[in-house]
Amino acid sequence: MSSSDLPLRHQSPLIFSGNNYLGLANHPEIVEKVASELHLYGNSFSASRKTTGTHEIHLQLEHLLSTFKQSEQSIVFATGYLGNSLLVRALRKGNTIVLADAQSHPSIVDSIPKDEVEVELYAHRDPGHLEELLKKHPSKDLLIMTDGVFALTGEIASLDELYELAMKYEAALIVDDAHATGILGENGRGTPEHFNLPGSKHIYQSETMSKALGSYGGFIASEVKLIEKIQAESNFYIASTALPPAIVLASLFSLQYLMQHPELRVQLLGNARKIREGVSSLGFETTPDLTPIIPLFFKEVKQAEQLSQYLKEAGFVVPAIKYPIQMEKSIVRITTNALHTSDEIEQLLFTLKKWTNEHPAH
Ligand SMILES: Cc1ncc(COP(=O)(O)O)c(C=O)c1O
Repeated sequence: MSSSDLPLRHQSPLIFSGNNYLGLANHPEIVEKVASELHLYGNSFSASRKTTGTHEIHLQLEHLLSTFKQSEQSIVFATGYLGNSLLVRALRKGNTIVLADAQSHPSIVDSIPKDEVEVELYAHRDPGHLEELLKKHPSKDLLIMTDGVFALTGEIASLDELYELAMKYEAALIVDDAHATGILGENGRGTPEHFNLPGSKHIYQSETMSKALGSYGGFIASEVKLIEKIQAESNFYIASTALPPAIVLASLFSLQYLMQHPELRVQLLGNARKIREGVSSLGFETTPDLTPIIPLFFKEVKQAEQLSQYLKEAGFVVPAIKYPIQMEKSIVRITTNALHTSDEIEQLLFTLKKWTNEHPAH
């Protein structure tokens, strides 16, 4: 049967959105384990990590994150959004300039204390332009910042080239790997592993437990020296309530599951490949990298909104994204996960094909 003959069989809306990439956010086994242990801890530790909020399960989670990331130590905190800020504050010196990708996620932009450090943007994914800026500031302490996988476009930053530049100009490199943790690299350790970067010295990843890990909160896995500095100096660690038990347990059990089930990553990236190839062959403009974020680009916001609405009426949730990132094009952002079946993906592609037939000039 050719795809043009496919009937639309699903009943409830099919969600090709969000970041529950491995399906762990509602995995029955993980949910059950969390529920069965939660009564031991209650709802909140109601204290900061620095005072009495650090519990054995925080330490277990941080220890497992270090095992997963092969790092000396780890620290967890509320929201991945905060990670870039913790890193910039821990790594900046008196004379620091931040050089950030022009399409950085808002959590990078917001993390830079602009009254204390200078900042310049390099053209999106353009190591050549970054090098020009690095050369311009020989007497500065250099800090490069980029997304590992860009949240809107699914592009992978050329971290190999950025790393080479970081080594050449003695810069530190912060990578927001929110969309790469648990997904890219042989063991899901993110973009440094994807590019086989040796020991990842000078690379500092800001990571989240809210996407592939299907939980909530951020983490940094790095050298003891850096983690201890954050613990000692970050007001957030000192004066904000520790991650609550349900979140810590969910993160812990999800991470255990993720480490035991590499096939989920294979399934996810297989789905991503099918959709990417499918939309490309239908003539949509998209990006080439193998990640679960598959954007469809449009010149006009109206076109993006019209397609998103068309998909909604056909039973698919695929939002037209409005995001505070400088970008000329409008995007309908498809995200896939390890749970999407081949049949569901074919149904989505079938509906997109119907739309292109009705809108030949897209
Ligand atoms: C690139 C990037 N960094 C950071 C974050 C924030 O992570 P969290 O949702 O865990 O706060 C997001 C979330 O959407 C993101 O896309």
